Amino acid sequence: MNKTETMEAFDYTLPYKTYIDPQTFAEEKEKIFLNSWVLSGHTSQVEKVGDFFTFEIAGQPLMISRDKNNELNAFYNICPHRGTKVERNEQGNKKIFMCSYHGWTFKLDGKLNKAPNFNTNDLGNHSCMTPVQLEVYKSMIFVNLNPEAKPMTEIREELVKDLEKYTFLDSLKKIRVTERVIEANWKAVIDNYLECDHCKLAHPEFSKTFDMKNYHIDLHDGYTCQYSKLTNETSEEHAKFYWVWPNLMISIYPGKDGNMTTSQILPLSPNRSLAIYSYYFQKDEMTEEQKELIRFVDQVREEDFELVELLQTGFDTQAFKQGIYSPQEYALKYFHQRYEEEMDNNDLSAGR
Ligand code: FES
Ligand SMILES: [Fe+2]
Repeated sequence: MNKTETMEAFDYTLPYKTYIDPQTFAEEKEKIFLNSWVLSGHTSQVEKVGDFFTFEIAGQPLMISRDKNNELNAFYNICPHRGTKVERNEQGNKKIFMCSYHGWTFKLDGKLNKAPNFNTNDLGNHSCMTPVQLEVYKSMIFVNLNPEAKPMTEIREELVKDLEKYTFLDSLKKIRVTERVIEANWKAVIDNYLECDHCKLAHPEFSKTFDMKNYHIDLHDGYTCQYSKLTNETSEEHAKFYWVWPNLMISIYPGKDGNMTTSQILPLSPNRSLAIYSYYFQKDEMTEEQKELIRFVDQVREEDFELVELLQTGFDTQAFKQGIYSPQEYALKYFHQRYEEEMDNNDLSAGR
């Protein structure tokens, strides 16, 4: 086989340009992040009437609140008078929201309460903060910024069925959140998660804890699932590590004290991302075993951050323009194929 034939035998990754290019980044925001169901929070953050929290997806300021009818609402945290950001706190409990510019007030469902510089509330589509589609599944709150998006449970039917068996997910509470800015493109963080060829070298403790000879990565419709037996495990109930299109990772640890962690990777710029890690347990007080689990998970993540940041330094060089997949890196390829489909799809009405 000559050199050309050998080269053609490889499958190539996404072009590295897509990990550094501002134009691609702007397109991803529109076609992926403003058009997908994205995890935004957990019902345990908004248990009481008046509870709210604010957050951003791809630069869009948003808010979730529980109204007087005990319903959850999602809307842009933007005043419909002249576009000021309304709520400045990250979380809290209020009876009413007030814009600090001209004093318009809003009810807990985002509808206008009073506009002091008008003598009517009938202001057409300026009479509420713009609503956003919201769906709760297993106490996780998802939003989709495409008003035409199909319901999440319809689009993610297979995942919904898969997670149904974890009944404890409904009663978990968000106990701890950590955030970290990663100096890398959001896709590089997902790429790192979707293969374990690096595990032996980069995660010695993880590789000792799990049976790496029987490490599985299964592909499903819009998500993947990784699992393996613990080296000392006798039970058939394994920890499962899910990736859900586009930017969510969910780790589920079943058993008596069943618990979960989620990781959201939010794009900040072509070479910068915000990772939000949340830990959910059944009780407010963590057991020693759970504290140990957090230590273990944090350590594995820190090992990954270092690698991903090193990886990003290679994307903007003249060395070569694309990487290649090893035979085990098929989940990475699956992610890249989905990415290309979404980026090629100009019809934004579908909403994933
Ligand atoms: S911009 Fe909010 S009240 Fe004027
Ligand atoms: Fe890793």
